[in-house]
Amino acid sequence: MKSIRDADLNGKTVLLRVDYNVPLSDEGEIENNMRIISTLPTIKYILEHNAKVILCSHLGRPKGTPQKKFSLAHVAEILSAYLKEEVVFADDDEVVSEKTKKLVEQFKASDKKVMLLQNTRFRPEEEKNDPNFSKDLASLADIFVLDAFGAAHRSHSSTVGVAEFIPAYGGFLIEKEVKFLKETTNDPKRPYTVILGGSKVSDKIDLIKCLMCKADKLIVGGAMALTFLNAKGINTGASKVEKDKLGLARDLINSVADKNVELFLPVDIAGSTEFSDEIPKKIYDVEHIPSDVMGLDIGPKTCLMYSEAIKDSATIVMNGPMGVFEMSQYADGTKAVLQAMSESEAVTVVGGGDSAAAAIKFGFNDKMSHISTGGGASLELLEGKTLPGIAILM
Ligand code: 3PG
Repeated sequence: MKSIRDADLNGKTVLLRVDYNVPLSDEGEIENNMRIISTLPTIKYILEHNAKVILCSHLGRPKGTPQKKFSLAHVAEILSAYLKEEVVFADDDEVVSEKTKKLVEQFKASDKKVMLLQNTRFRPEEEKNDPNFSKDLASLADIFVLDAFGAAHRSHSSTVGVAEFIPAYGGFLIEKEVKFLKETTNDPKRPYTVILGGSKVSDKIDLIKCLMCKADKLIVGGAMALTFLNAKGINTGASKVEKDKLGLARDLINSVADKNVELFLPVDIAGSTEFSDEIPKKIYDVEHIPSDVMGLDIGPKTCLMYSEAIKDSATIVMNGPMGVFEMSQYADGTKAVLQAMSESEAVTVVGGGDSAAAAIKFGFNDKMSHISTGGGASLELLEGKTLPGIAILM
């Protein structure tokens, strides 16, 4: 992969594509700054090598229409505080209009070093990878550096198209993500344990198929575990089950049995008759889930069983939470798994938006080898797919 270390940056202007698609609360507040912080090494490297940097990113899915709630203005302020450096914000609904082109000329002539463009998805051309928009973006700089790992699975103007017009290199975050998600899992130290959670089996089918030939242990939690239990003929009460995926779940269980993979499913659950944190939770063995109860987390026996299975692993990857961790009563399963990972000697990788958010929320961020900034991108890389953003750097 072409690395930023190979680029001659002296006196140049770098267009740096980052993923500042930060999690926003209902009130529009930024919930965590992980995606901003993780770009600082690349930005600082560029500045230390006597170059200027123009950052660009998407935020949310505004579908080609400027929307105030998806403006990057607030991100510019936060970035400026981390860098202790003024960040010039190009507040331009067209992202690269004549106004911004002039601002860039002034920026280049000034002693300012960092600039942030407006949300690239304010332009409908972005997601179409329209060459005119790519060319406009490229015209602002001499070199393109891609560090938006979270968006590297998207073939858009600002992630891929721009590399047609100026030389492209990978930043430090991209390098780190590829090292942990691809290299670590391609030739993992064994035992290799993968913990899968989240709500849908359908989201993880390709990953499960790929892991069957690679992992030693497959630990399943979250609502997807209930679909697997149901597929095994267990009555899962009022739990959220993907009815149309039961056949597929059955096939996956049978295929796992044919391979050398140990499959772990919950033996008990924490549940309730309502999807709410207000009613005290109850614990049930999976064979005795009442018809009006839905499983919202793995139970305490399962937590112990999973922690034990995780303990002696040499490589552990977690993708997806074990329960509805946003509700405090149903966070125990996710916490237990993260705790067991943090106490093990293994290389530990947390991938996927929700699991990364849980690791940060419960204070495990400094206790893992790597927490991925990518959701869909980390999933696709673990599935062995080639990401278009990585392909342009090869
Ligand atoms: C993400 O959060 O997974 C990335 O920023 C990509 O966002 P998208 O799914 O809206 O393309």
